[in-house]
Amino acid sequence: MKILSGNSNRRLSNDIASVLGEGLTEAEIKRFGDGEVFVEIQENVRGEDVFVVQSTSTPANDNLMELLISIDALSRASASRITAVLPYFGYARQDRKAGPRTPISAKLVANLITTAGADRVLTVDLHAGQIQGFFDIPTDNLYAVKVIEDRIRKNYADSVKNLCVVSPDVGGVVRARALAKRLGDVPLAIVDKRRPKANVSEVMNIIGDVENLDCILFDDIVDSGGTLCNAADALMSRGAKSVAAYVTHGVLSGTAVERITKADGLQKLVVTDSIEATQSVLACGKIEVVSIDSLLAEAIRRIANEESVSSLF
Ligand code: R5P
Repeated sequence: MKILSGNSNRRLSNDIASVLGEGLTEAEIKRFGDGEVFVEIQENVRGEDVFVVQSTSTPANDNLMELLISIDALSRASASRITAVLPYFGYARQDRKAGPRTPISAKLVANLITTAGADRVLTVDLHAGQIQGFFDIPTDNLYAVKVIEDRIRKNYADSVKNLCVVSPDVGGVVRARALAKRLGDVPLAIVDKRRPKANVSEVMNIIGDVENLDCILFDDIVDSGGTLCNAADALMSRGAKSVAAYVTHGVLSGTAVERITKADGLQKLVVTDSIEATQSVLACGKIEVVSIDSLLAEAIRRIANEESVSSLF
């Protein structure tokens, strides 16, 4: 097995490799003066089972090109099997025609990864499970829910019984219900969210009783932070005892960290390291990062050994 890392999340790649007791494959991935990406694999990969770890997080297009060009280099170097490991699959939110004359970019990105030469894909908490069907190659979608459950149990220790899991929108109900069940069938509430335009969200209503409960907002992505901050305010105004958010992918674009820092209703935000934490995230006392290195390492080990991945859950 070989593990090649792109530049988007070297910390996580190193951690995955060290859990597996492997080193990272020697490679140079750099930019030419005009911004074009250049990749040179500096060790023999002929006949190898290669895993390319790269999140297509910001800068999304550069990181995507790095992934595609790395796959192309590996394929031309006769790797026997190439698995694109995307801890965070960017463009996933563009998974349908949201209006007339708009693209389905998630499908286009899936096509690009396949055309570049990937044989399989491994990713985590796809925005919508159906995106697996955009790939015509085997795609494993891992769930970070166990890692998140463990952190919730650690943070709430004896007060898990007072929790209420809250889905920040109708689309996240299945995910939230799964977490509520794992925590011992704690109550579930749903935020009726409206998005008048991209990156702007409004809370219309809260479905369910949250009075005197410690609310856990559970989502796949935090981007501008608007969804979480607005939901936290609405939950507090309905009598919640406290509100914290647990989210798989910390996109945290623009002024999100500042917004979360200032949000009185939101006590804490926990994200995974599917996207490498920036300095401002690491410096923010309200944000905790939990690692999915062992989850990804175990899935990679199972794929390499042709073992079941679904039994991981
Ligand atoms: C939307 O369906 C996603 O699950 C997230 O709720 C959304 O992407 C969060 O975006 P923001 O943080 O910008 O409100």
